[in-house]
Amino acid sequence: MSTVEHFTDLQREAIEWRRYLHQNPELNFRVDNTARFVAEKLASFGINHIETGIAETGIVALIPGDGGDGPTIGLRADMDALPIVEASNKPWSSRVSGKMHACGHDGHTAMLLGAAKYLANTRSFKGCVALIFQPAEEVELPSGGLKMVESGIMDRFNISRVFGMHNSPGIEVGHFAICDGPILASQDDFDIVVKGKGGHAASPHRAIDPVVISAQIILGLQTLVSRNTDPTEALVISVTKLKAAQAYNIIPDQVEMAGTVRTLMPGLRDFAERQIRMAAEGIARSAGANVEFKYIRSVPVTFNHTQETSLAIKAARDLVGSSAVDGKIKAQMGAEDFAYMLEARPGAMIYIGNGSTAGLHHPAYDFNDDALPYGIGYWVNLVETVLGA
Ligand code: NI
Repeated sequence: MSTVEHFTDLQREAIEWRRYLHQNPELNFRVDNTARFVAEKLASFGINHIETGIAETGIVALIPGDGGDGPTIGLRADMDALPIVEASNKPWSSRVSGKMHACGHDGHTAMLLGAAKYLANTRSFKGCVALIFQPAEEVELPSGGLKMVESGIMDRFNISRVFGMHNSPGIEVGHFAICDGPILASQDDFDIVVKGKGGHAASPHRAIDPVVISAQIILGLQTLVSRNTDPTEALVISVTKLKAAQAYNIIPDQVEMAGTVRTLMPGLRDFAERQIRMAAEGIARSAGANVEFKYIRSVPVTFNHTQETSLAIKAARDLVGSSAVDGKIKAQMGAEDFAYMLEARPGAMIYIGNGSTAGLHHPAYDFNDDALPYGIGYWVNLVETVLGA
């Protein structure tokens, strides 16, 4: 197993890749130039098996070890940027106005490239490493992770376990954090249209006022969590969008509202869908109105498997020491589309410290280049831990 000093030579090169990607951000499935850059680098490392164009611009590349037969494990990085105007004021700021790498996927790609170069050179493991570079992590359904799974990469490349890594501002550089079980929430969205009867605001008795009914529905939804779910199980229901009339004196025919549901318990998604529908329909009907209801399942719970979480902790601790790896962090209610890969195969996602930078998706955010050798070292140690010859 290696400590981080092994990877400082690679860091210089990885910084160049990272800053090039940072200056040239691309969105969603249209990460064509990024994917071309990745494929060229992989080929220059002597990697022969590179499949491009998966889920439009995704890549899977295989590095067989020299240690003989064994399983194939997948290591995943995401490549897409965000539609944000950069305000980091770094010399390597985005050259594309309105697009920036505000989630550090430039760093994720550079770290996996660094590991690829190292592993293609040493190959001191058995079985095979599948490098997975995906587009469109940031988009709503269907995202790049889902599309790559649906395109059959797990079966086609015989991947038996899959691992992910995301940087985390607020965690010190050189530190890692992970937990067994749910680490990020599922994300579902819903739309409710309350259909009443419009009229003049001065004559509410001649109307069926969807505004007042909507207010009751919003309050009703807040008690689903407080009164109907186990207090030890996390569920968030937030109404975030509301559209009624555009005038002081009009009661509208209908009100449109929308919101989001987050949970760490996969079973609570069914519960939320059922209960939100029941509450909205019941409240509307009792007032003589109707509702249209749509529940949109988006990203599943990012669920770390026990055995793979232990392997990830071991790989990180061998790199940076026990005290720099928190193996029991609290789950967060954000969502991440690596969840689809963890539904398809057992695996684990770990956080790597990005130091005291601006937060993810903030215009002043920048991936911390000091984290690069730690990320590269983690991937290498993980491969040598899981596929130890
Ligand atoms: Ni991200």
